Amino acid sequence: MLDDRFVWWRHGVIYQIYPRSFQDSDGDGVGDLAGVNLRLDYLVALGVDAIWLSPFFRSPMADFGYDVSDHAAVDPLFGDLAAFDRLVAAAHARGLKVLLDLIPNHTSDQHPWFQESRAGRGAPKREWYVWRDPGPDGGAPNNWRSEFGGSAWTLDPATGQFYYHAFLASQPDLNWRNPEVADAIAAVMRFWLDRGVDGFRVDAIHHLFEAESLLDNPPNPDWRPGEPLADQHLRQHTADQPEIHAEVARMRRVVETYGPDHVLIGEAYLPIDRLVTYYGAALDGFHLPFNFHLLTTPWTPRAIARLAADYEGLLPPGAWPNWVLGNHDRQRLASRVGPAQIRVAAMLLLTLRGTPTLYQGDELGMLDTPTAPDQVRDPWELNVPGLGLGRDPVRTPMPWDASDGAGFTTGTPWLPLASNSAEINAARQAEDPASPLRFYRRLIGLRRSEPALTHGAFVSIGADDAVLRYERRWSGGRVLVALNFTGRAARCVVPDAVLTLSTHDRPAGEQIKDALTLAANEGVVLRLS
Ligand code: GLC
Ligand code: MG
Repeated sequence: MLDDRFVWWRHGVIYQIYPRSFQDSDGDGVGDLAGVNLRLDYLVALGVDAIWLSPFFRSPMADFGYDVSDHAAVDPLFGDLAAFDRLVAAAHARGLKVLLDLIPNHTSDQHPWFQESRAGRGAPKREWYVWRDPGPDGGAPNNWRSEFGGSAWTLDPATGQFYYHAFLASQPDLNWRNPEVADAIAAVMRFWLDRGVDGFRVDAIHHLFEAESLLDNPPNPDWRPGEPLADQHLRQHTADQPEIHAEVARMRRVVETYGPDHVLIGEAYLPIDRLVTYYGAALDGFHLPFNFHLLTTPWTPRAIARLAADYEGLLPPGAWPNWVLGNHDRQRLASRVGPAQIRVAAMLLLTLRGTPTLYQGDELGMLDTPTAPDQVRDPWELNVPGLGLGRDPVRTPMPWDASDGAGFTTGTPWLPLASNSAEINAARQAEDPASPLRFYRRLIGLRRSEPALTHGAFVSIGADDAVLRYERRWSGGRVLVALNFTGRAARCVVPDAVLTLSTHDRPAGEQIKDALTLAANEGVVLRLS
């Protein structure tokens, strides 16, 4: 195999596009593929290497495209295959890689596979989905819960059996114990790889198998009222099952036949010691199992230092790390850490060792946009209202400019625009050297030009109540990062160094001797002599 030490997915920056909310080109209030095409130069100016597109496949949109009814078609809302081909060509012409969402765990109940499967107990595709007889009481076969609320089993009255769904009842789980399913998904992968895509982000991989025993999941002793009902039980028999790894390895082999610059990324919300098993026992699993731990770790220097040490320590030899600060399912960065900390967070994401993934709008410091009860669109919030589980607030449209539709649409946006779009928008930030957007551009540029940051080893230096310090080292080059997580000035000891980049307006080239006082919420990158 080719040496993949310098392959793009190790040093590049990935940018997640949620197509519904990125750019509408036809005035229907929903973003589309032609819209993404119109904004590629924005992404080039930002400096990212790859775009990951959340689903745009044909879908009834019960879960906004995570319920696919035709894997080989573009939903008319987003365009058509010709628009997709144009987007790939335009992205590649600019040096941008294109990654798609692959959703192997489930399909829409409107998918022809499921329609054929539910046709009868003896239907040829019956075993493509997970069908079980009722439990002894005539109800669901066991206590397994849907992530989106309620039982994970739905009765199909026509055949008297229940089907399993980790998510909505309209998202039946495929039965991965049936090799025909793996073949069908491999064919889907090849369909898009043949059209030029550079890899996949694989959805909900930890849900791929359920235990054949059908044993009840045990109660979760840490669950408290108000938390999602799906968390009331431990997912002992419904998540992270040992059979998953062979299937990931099979997907990896499909991707690998297209060359070492093609990448397979996995979505698995798991503790670090479990997450790292998704690299595969022989590094034959995901190139990058998404590391979501920055989303949940307390925002303090000590907690982040411990996280980085744990993660670095548990990575299998030869595995390449990665970090994520936001996505379309979780609270936005600026709402989570506070607007004052977004530059420190950006510096952390882009200077830790490993591939960073950015979520659209976080580079502008977008906040969660609350949606009024009559504006709710997320099926999770509709199923389980009032717990704040809804994901609409993190999916509101990109604010491109100060105009009425924020440059996103000439029509009525499918979710409300942020009320501060006139202040927080890309056009305005592009003109303002002190904006978050301009800071991201400088930071990504620095990361790209500094081998210690792209390839170098990670060396933890220390953490106190205010400041986190670490070094990145690469063949003689040493870079020190110091981040102040607090709203107070903080002094820290550093070796003699030259300042390369600050989150504040401190000039590059400043000589630092012995110690440095960081302003409130300031982060710096220093080059050590
Ligand atoms: C993943 C997606 C999420 C979706 C779920 C079901 O977690 O990121 O948006 O609802 O899978 O497909
Ligand atoms: Mg549109």
